[in-house]
Amino acid sequence: MARITVLGGTGYAGSNIVKAAAARGHQVTSFSRTAPAPADAVAGATYVTGNVFDEVTLDGLIDSADVVVSALAPRGELAGKTREVLSHVAEYAAAAKVRVGVVGGAGSLQISPGGIRLLDTRQFPAAFKAEAVEMGSVLYDLRASDADLDWFFVSPASGFGSHAPGVATGVYRLGGDVVLSDDNGKSEISGADLADAIVKEIETPAHVRSRFTVAY
Ligand SMILES: NC(=O)c1ccc[n+]([C@@H]2O[C@H](COP(=O)([O-])OP(=O)(O)OC[C@H]3O[C@@H](n4cnc5c(N)ncnc54)[C@H](OP(=O)(O)O)[C@@H]3O)[C@@H](O)[C@H]2O)c1
Repeated sequence: MARITVLGGTGYAGSNIVKAAAARGHQVTSFSRTAPAPADAVAGATYVTGNVFDEVTLDGLIDSADVVVSALAPRGELAGKTREVLSHVAEYAAAAKVRVGVVGGAGSLQISPGGIRLLDTRQFPAAFKAEAVEMGSVLYDLRASDADLDWFFVSPASGFGSHAPGVATGVYRLGGDVVLSDDNGKSEISGADLADAIVKEIETPAHVRSRFTVAY
């Protein structure tokens, strides 16, 4: 059993991670500004409300965890600030010897081995570019971090998102820095299966100080 804190544990990716981790018997704490509606709260999970800009509360949550997973999104008041927040999380977690996982985006994945990133292609949607660039910067910072920080970064399939929740199948592929697509050229993963892969990474670390992707 691990003590897992999920920053943004009420969002799309975060709530799936909270659900998957609690179902596998972990001690889970979700942190977000707003508590979930009672019907949406996961049994057994603890919900703490506050703002990630409050470093005292944030540091306390890191101290009481074995693994901190960020499911924050660089939108709203976190647009342009997520890199800074996660830089603090990484620095504090390294000193506290707490593992850090970050859910980022598909945009920083390469289209082929050694190729350009999805976000650098002309087809990449302009509406998601700033978000993809910011999460790509978070990955850059993690890769540049001192070796005492134990981190992993997850890039979901490019079709991942709350618009396509899908279902839990338990059957998916893991990859590295290159986007994974199926035989029809589709790159998809449900919220539940992404969360399953993340909880399994926490239970059995296979991507220490590296990025992995999850897709069908
Ligand atoms: N296909 C793709 O590549 C793809 C698609 C979707 C998402 N993503 C990535 O997945 C990650 C998660 O995205 P998501 O769509 O799951 O996000 P989301 O649904 O918007 O959830 C964000 C979470 O962060 C919390 N939050 C926001 N501001 C906060 C603050 N100041 N302090 C504390 N908590 C705060 C929110 O709750 P409150 O508002 O109550 O605080 C919520 O729980 C991001 O890195 C995103 O880029 C990638």
